[in-house]
Amino acid sequence: MASHWNRALLDSKQTTTVTETLQACLTDLVDLSLAMKQAHWVVQGEHFRSLHLHLDEIVDVAREASDDVAERLSALGVAPDGRAGSVAKSSRVEAYPPGFVGSKDTVRLCSDRSAMVVKGLRHAIEVLDEHDPVSQDLLIGICADLEKHLWMLQANEKE
Ligand SMILES: [Fe+2]
Repeated sequence: MASHWNRALLDSKQTTTVTETLQACLTDLVDLSLAMKQAHWVVQGEHFRSLHLHLDEIVDVAREASDDVAERLSALGVAPDGRAGSVAKSSRVEAYPPGFVGSKDTVRLCSDRSAMVVKGLRHAIEVLDEHDPVSQDLLIGICADLEKHLWMLQANEKE
């Protein structure tokens, strides 16, 4: 795979650590966008309309975030990999079940998957602390957005 690390930004060793960390987050974000779209299509039951719409907002957040992370990888001189096969092989997000899903289960499944991505992002933010504050800042912003949506999803389960 062609790699043209950008000497002006990071040294070679840092580039490897940073880009592997970013790639893992990219994979998770692409998978999250697909899972939340699936959830948007198959949710049914109570609060259908608000969940259906909210899930599409999370899709937008995940898609935009994946675009930003992919472009950061390109800026660092390493080709991002958002291909379906690569995502299926490497994602840390658990697969979404097939078929229609009731609203309670939808909230749980989507919260769990968002939390998996947040966990990966938080780990990445720690790793990047020593290596690249710019990439770290990007992931902090994404993580804050996703944590906001995680809160909104979880609020559905509270009385
Ligand atoms: Fe739609």
